Amino acid sequence: MVEVVKLEFKGKIYEFPIISGTEGDMAIDIRGLRKKTGLITYDPGLANTGVCKSKITYLDGEKGILRYRGYPIEELAEKSTFVETAYLLINGELPTEEELKNFSIKLNDHSLVHEDMREFFENFPRRAHPMGILSSMVTALREFYPELKEGGKEEINTTFARLLSKVRTMAAMAYKISRGHKVVYPRHDLSYCANFLNMMFDSPVKPYIIDDDVVRALNVFWILHADHEQNCSTAAVRLVGSAKVNIYAAISAGISALWGPLHGGANQAVIEMLREIYESGGDPKPFIEKAKDKNNPFRLMGFGHRIYKTYDPREKIMKKLCHKILDKFKIDDPLLDVAKKLEELAVKDPYFQEKRLYPNVDFYSGIFLRAIGIPENMFTVMFAIGRLPGWLAQWKESMEDPHNRLYRPRQLYIGPSERKYISIEKRGKLTTTESA
Ligand code: ACO
Repeated sequence: MVEVVKLEFKGKIYEFPIISGTEGDMAIDIRGLRKKTGLITYDPGLANTGVCKSKITYLDGEKGILRYRGYPIEELAEKSTFVETAYLLINGELPTEEELKNFSIKLNDHSLVHEDMREFFENFPRRAHPMGILSSMVTALREFYPELKEGGKEEINTTFARLLSKVRTMAAMAYKISRGHKVVYPRHDLSYCANFLNMMFDSPVKPYIIDDDVVRALNVFWILHADHEQNCSTAAVRLVGSAKVNIYAAISAGISALWGPLHGGANQAVIEMLREIYESGGDPKPFIEKAKDKNNPFRLMGFGHRIYKTYDPREKIMKKLCHKILDKFKIDDPLLDVAKKLEELAVKDPYFQEKRLYPNVDFYSGIFLRAIGIPENMFTVMFAIGRLPGWLAQWKESMEDPHNRLYRPRQLYIGPSERKYISIEKRGKLTTTESA
């Protein structure tokens, strides 16, 4: 028997079915709500709204569980590679040896960026933020490479490989050009992550020595960021994609959304905050007090999450990774001590406990990125490269979903009722009350 929720409104009773997911999550199917009752729902930030059914990522914010296609994040971080995880997210299953080999070859085959695109890169102002460069350049890809036409398996695979490979190349290119350095081209003999590090750090005067531990750590970093169900940037990809825009524009929308400090931009904001604490003497208490002050918009960056009401499982892995790399290179980063002190004090503070605010994935990621040599303005770009497989998988799922419709939310209008146009000569003479 179908469970229903009954809604009584103006003396009439309406029934709405309950639908459930494979992990027992339940939702009221309100698709008929407005038609039957004339009502709409009011849900700013969509915190109570499921916009799709998805088979990609499962997240339990109460228990701190994250799984991609059923596989726990902890196991993937330990055993998988970023390329394998990308394949899993996009295709739904782990690849066979041959499938993985073919996927890697495809990524290598599409790693070069059209030479004409270099002129764009070179003409951005030197101070341009790499996230702005990346979102513009991803939109520009459509003008250099074919759009998806029929949407057949092979065509999708090629377009996805093109995006996965070129976004990584473009990120490294943007960095090199921003420094006024010679661009390093991708190499066929290197893995996805090693190739990125080499394109970032190799130079004609100092060849980059690829370190297996750093390559492994980067794999883990990107696996942790690869998908996170309907977060702000993924929702942006689905929303923009619902207008049937070309895939490059949809992904570029995701990059733009990710840039915000409440989302992916938090990894850069965390480092800036930790440095401020360090430079002001190293005591995080005044910053905690500032974050608690209702009259101050300041928030502890890297703390809190819409879904997680406990520790973010990615944060735990990120913290370990951070220690591992810092120990290996014998780096004594004072910001790590500040971060640990801040975490310790904040999680014990009644304000953070009551609101269930814990460190999220961004809290330690900046310290890790600094340790492997990534400059601060590239932190969010690193997140974007990691999130790309998730955006692609979610875009594909939405395109294949027969229930996917143009995203077009409603609103409650609270502005003035109809009024008469006032000619400009009369406007200055009216008081505010008269004009309202
Ligand atoms: N510091 C201080 N107070 C906070 C923080 C924080 N970091 N986060 C939330 N709060 C408080 C809010 O002021 C609010 O208080 P109120 O109920 O008294 O008004 C309450 O906790 C709930 O906060 P909301 O903003 O309603 O929660 P929401 O789910 O909308 O926001 C968000 C989640 C944006 C992540 C928020 O916690 C935040 O701004 N964190 C800092 C930025 C950050 O780290 N972003 C990265 C998130 S992870 C990611 O996107 C990859």
